[in-house]
Amino acid sequence: MNNQDKIKKLIDLRTEAKLGGGLKRIEAQHRKGKFTARERIEMLLDEGSFEEFDMFVKHRCTNFGLDKSKYLGDGVVTGHGTIDGRIVYVFSQDFTIFGGSLSETFAMKICKIMDMAMKVGAPVIGINDSGGARIQEGVTSLAGYAEIFERNILASGVIPQISAIFGPCAGGAVYSPALTDFIMMTEQNSYMFVTGPKVVKTVTGEDITTEDLGGGKIHASKSGVAHFLVENEKEGLMLLRKLLTYLPQNNLEDPIVTECSDPIERKEESLNEIIPENPNQPYDIIDVIHLVVDYGEFLEIHRNYAKNIVVGFAKFDGQPVGIIANQPNYLAGVLDIEASRKAARFVRFCDSFNIPIITLVDVPGFLPGSKQEYGGIITHGAKLMFAYGEATVPKITVTLRKSYGGAHDVMSCKQLRGDLNYAWPTAEIAVMGAAGAVEVLQGKKLKKIDNPDERAKFIAEHEEDYKEKFANPYQAASLGYIDDVIEPINTRFRIIRGLQSLATKKLVNPPKKHSNIPL
Ligand code: HXC
Repeated sequence: MNNQDKIKKLIDLRTEAKLGGGLKRIEAQHRKGKFTARERIEMLLDEGSFEEFDMFVKHRCTNFGLDKSKYLGDGVVTGHGTIDGRIVYVFSQDFTIFGGSLSETFAMKICKIMDMAMKVGAPVIGINDSGGARIQEGVTSLAGYAEIFERNILASGVIPQISAIFGPCAGGAVYSPALTDFIMMTEQNSYMFVTGPKVVKTVTGEDITTEDLGGGKIHASKSGVAHFLVENEKEGLMLLRKLLTYLPQNNLEDPIVTECSDPIERKEESLNEIIPENPNQPYDIIDVIHLVVDYGEFLEIHRNYAKNIVVGFAKFDGQPVGIIANQPNYLAGVLDIEASRKAARFVRFCDSFNIPIITLVDVPGFLPGSKQEYGGIITHGAKLMFAYGEATVPKITVTLRKSYGGAHDVMSCKQLRGDLNYAWPTAEIAVMGAAGAVEVLQGKKLKKIDNPDERAKFIAEHEEDYKEKFANPYQAASLGYIDDVIEPINTRFRIIRGLQSLATKKLVNPPKKHSNIPL
């Protein structure tokens, strides 16, 4: 073979590899409304930036005649490229080759790019579309998964890890995405479960569809496994690009501060009017967020899960931040098990990756009741408390309205090392609301008043008295627990000033092997 033939051979091999499992299977993939592994990578990365590894890898299995069936690349496309000029490592499972099932060599390819990503300090994005462990390989496939899991664990908190589920992801295979920071699912074609509908039927007798058991909509709303639900793959891939703009490359870097033309002293008159006179009337905290952040842009995470708390990324004068905000529009913004878990995980993500935390508080307390107590609200609420208290990134808290009881402490109060704690004049910082307080403090006297009018008058007077004393920010401010009471229209400016003043913050927790967060 002369040199020209050798070069032609390379080109032919590349062409063969790019065809994956062949045209028929590619067409089948397209018919399902799915893109191929390579098409997905192309859409995700900056044009022409993809550098592929291990295109010539083949599996080594000889069971069940598999040695007669080999494909270049063995079912996963791996390598690196750039997103907005910053390097990312990617793997994209190729369903056209053995249903994207994971073999020993398939796992080795993924591990290789994960190791490279750790070496250079770059995020890993995994696109999942796989029938799970390659059945013909048996235990080597299981070992391959475990190799990936261990790397997911060690990379956690070092480099951002993001999973897109654009096809099946079942059995133990779900645990690699579950170990990563964010999971994205599509409305159709995307499902995750530990055991599929058939096994569920056999074991428990329950009849359930794939969609209802582990579809994107279920995981984005009921289980909270998925952080993002998108209509289609293209939208999802664009969202991944957007997500990375808020993140640093690794835990030793800060997120990139971008140029911002949205004026820092932009005043929003409507903020002075946003809190209703009636304390029981809701408003939408998302409106507040949109009004204060750069260009009104907010990348919400877990939008359909635990809607009583809102979390997501935004920027203030170009500085990426994580926002955690109680949502009075849903369950009055109460803290429950799901909200506590959702927010705790987000706080820890931000802290891992040097992203300042802005907390907007309007919380009536923890949700009472046996359902919550039996479900362990004590442990789950403690998670959020722990996450806030352990976080060393800049923390700015603005109390808009209610901040009652344990929930006041949990939501990034001063004593949990809140750096700047501001309150609007409408804030009510107290052990509980006025009605509850009067009930407890005046219970004995109330019992003796039979006349309903007298009773109502008595309650109203005492509530007024209580509100005068506690349902305002000034008791907390007089003790220094609130650094300043600010006019709502100035919120954006005060947060930006705060972030600027905290840019050089240095805080280190006591040395330890690791903490023991109440999991
Ligand atoms: C080997 C597999 C495979 C697998 C699919 N294929 N899954 N090959 N091992 N796990 C092959 C099929 O034989 C077929 O090959 C091609 O991929 C496409 O599969 P189809 O069944 O034709 O596709 P579709 O109808 O879309 O169904 C997709 C599917 C189904 C729902 C994923 O293939 C399926 O149920 N697969 C098995 C899933 C499973 O039970 N996996 C093990 C889970 S346990 P041809 O040549 O015809 O194109 C597990 C443990 C992990 O993963 C443990 C980690 C700790």
